[in-house]
Amino acid sequence: MTMRSNTPSHTSSTTAVTLGSVDEMRERIRRKSKLKGRQADEISIDEVRALIGLRPDAGHRRDLLIEHLHKVNDAYRCLHDRHLVALAKEMNISMAEVYEVATFYHHFDVIKGDGKAPILTIRVCDGLSCEMAGAQDLLARLPALLGNPEVRVIAAPCIGRCEQAPAVVVHQYPVTFATLETVMSAVKSSSVQDIPGHGAVNFVASDFAEKSLSGVDGVALSGYTGYATYRAHGGYALAATIADAVAHAAHGEDEAERIIKVMEDSGLRGLGGAGFSVGRKWRIVRDQPAPRVMAVNIDEGEPGTFKDRVYLERDPHRFLEGMLVASKVVGIDACYIYLRDEYHGCRAILETEIAKLQADPPCTLPLIELRRGAGAYICGEESAMIESIEGKRGMPRLRPPYIAEVGLFGRPTLEHNFETLYWVRDLVEKGPQWFSSFGRNGRKGLRSFSVSGRVKHPGVKLAPAGITVQELIDEYCGGMAAGHALYAYLPGGASGGILPASLNNVPLDFDTLQPYGCFIGSAAVIILGQHDRARDAALNMMKFFEHESCGQCTPCRVGTAKAARLMQAERWDNVTLEDLNQVMVDASICGLGQAAPNPVRSVQKYFPHEIGGPV
Ligand SMILES: Cc1cc2nc3c(=O)[nH]c(=O)nc-3n(C[C@H](O)[C@H](O)[C@H](O)COP(=O)(O)O)c2cc1C
Ligand code: SF4
Ligand code: FES
Repeated sequence: MTMRSNTPSHTSSTTAVTLGSVDEMRERIRRKSKLKGRQADEISIDEVRALIGLRPDAGHRRDLLIEHLHKVNDAYRCLHDRHLVALAKEMNISMAEVYEVATFYHHFDVIKGDGKAPILTIRVCDGLSCEMAGAQDLLARLPALLGNPEVRVIAAPCIGRCEQAPAVVVHQYPVTFATLETVMSAVKSSSVQDIPGHGAVNFVASDFAEKSLSGVDGVALSGYTGYATYRAHGGYALAATIADAVAHAAHGEDEAERIIKVMEDSGLRGLGGAGFSVGRKWRIVRDQPAPRVMAVNIDEGEPGTFKDRVYLERDPHRFLEGMLVASKVVGIDACYIYLRDEYHGCRAILETEIAKLQADPPCTLPLIELRRGAGAYICGEESAMIESIEGKRGMPRLRPPYIAEVGLFGRPTLEHNFETLYWVRDLVEKGPQWFSSFGRNGRKGLRSFSVSGRVKHPGVKLAPAGITVQELIDEYCGGMAAGHALYAYLPGGASGGILPASLNNVPLDFDTLQPYGCFIGSAAVIILGQHDRARDAALNMMKFFEHESCGQCTPCRVGTAKAARLMQAERWDNVTLEDLNQVMVDASICGLGQAAPNPVRSVQKYFPHEIGGPV
């Protein structure tokens, strides 16, 4: 609509230009308002262009803001505000938007004016398993030992290597089983690599059913299954067959229905934490109008969880094939893979292997885009992840609408955890009974437990659903670590609560832990010994939640901070803590705030002697 009809007919052409259409007026106001505030300088614009490329005719894609911020942050080891101004200009978005996104993510260092970036950043994981393995000592002693104020040593939340604790990241390279010496030598060396070579290794995940995965116990990886090897062993035949059948006008529906039925019969549930039925989710999204998209969750931020990385480092194509099968069955034309920033080696693997798949596709491929997280646990929450893929702050959305209806870019979205898709090929090829034939104590299926803490052999254990923690320790972990006896355990990472050794016989699975105020989540099991305290574990978790709260709801933002303060008192103020617990559970938008009270309540219930209560 224009304003021309309101323009008096006698006005001169100059006046007409001055008034113009509504759109023209808007554009003039926009241009004028953009002149306010700091202007981009030519040098910064050139530097930004060198990294993100020249502006395409249609303009830069808004959703790529975080990708572009990474390019600048990698190149300059920080984000100078002059670069943020230049990026805003190049992307034609407001400086406020760029700034709010850049400051939301922990891995972006925004530096004002002429401030200098550290020449090197060392991140020492202070997650629970690393803390138990000596992270605080590393944090205390490294700065003096390094003797260089320009080398920055900071604490970081769990980096997904808890079986190799303590874990440290020097720039982008992990130092596992870190000691002062190995970190110092990594700092001096320029050749620390995080990229396992690929070769003729043929990793077959199902061979590890009811076993520990090899090569996670400090033994170097021999390599991963690359594209050629995967195909040579029958890989992608399933995706090609299903793609063919689904595309067939007459049988397409039947084939999609058959595969969905396999998922339902196998009992496979989402392995990212919530445990929603996979078959049902596929059916729900398939019933939504096209175009539909998929978002793959490899954020793996739940402290204690590292299973996705362990599989991805060995066998990326089994997951990619699962993703292809899901996309064909659900009718999806674009897949966005969101990988946590800490997994630099996995990113290199995925970039290489997706390129090979695209160069020699076994069937028509959907659009596949790999996106890089930026150090924010909350982006593992499905709607926050979608915001992040759209290039925004990772703030969870209010539901309804659910993402299956209105998700990424406003489209119906199928979101899955990496491991959920990883099992699709085996389930279809071996039949649903293969998966459901495993299980103990009345439970069905296999679970990839990430076990860390005080056990002899931590790592990923592909054990039957329903196994108890005692069985897991005895049969899969070689028993407790020397000098330790089971005192307590966390069955589901930071969010899943804490149980005492006396409950070592509870089946571990979805739905079995609720009566105890706990849940299995992503099956991250952290074992505490008699020298550890449950209250220290709970405090570690609460500090983590405080650090990672997106700040959107007051009960979560203020509640986690206040609870972390109260939990440091020798004797806990249980009345005030329970008040906070209740408001966090009742009034938080997402699972972070709702689950944050779990460790507190566990300590109050099972370990009152530690917090000034009766022994
Ligand atoms: C605070 C929070 C963090 C989460 N982090 C992850 C994560 O790192 N990886 C993951 O797969 N799911 C995570 N989830 C669960 C996702 O929201 C979602 O349920 C899952 O990706 C769906 O995939 P699935 O059905 O295959 O499990 C998280 C949930 C919450 C509330
Ligand atoms: S509960 Fe916490 S993390 Fe979740 S939306 Fe609210 S403030 Fe953000
Ligand atoms: S890597 Fe340190 S706790 Fe997970």
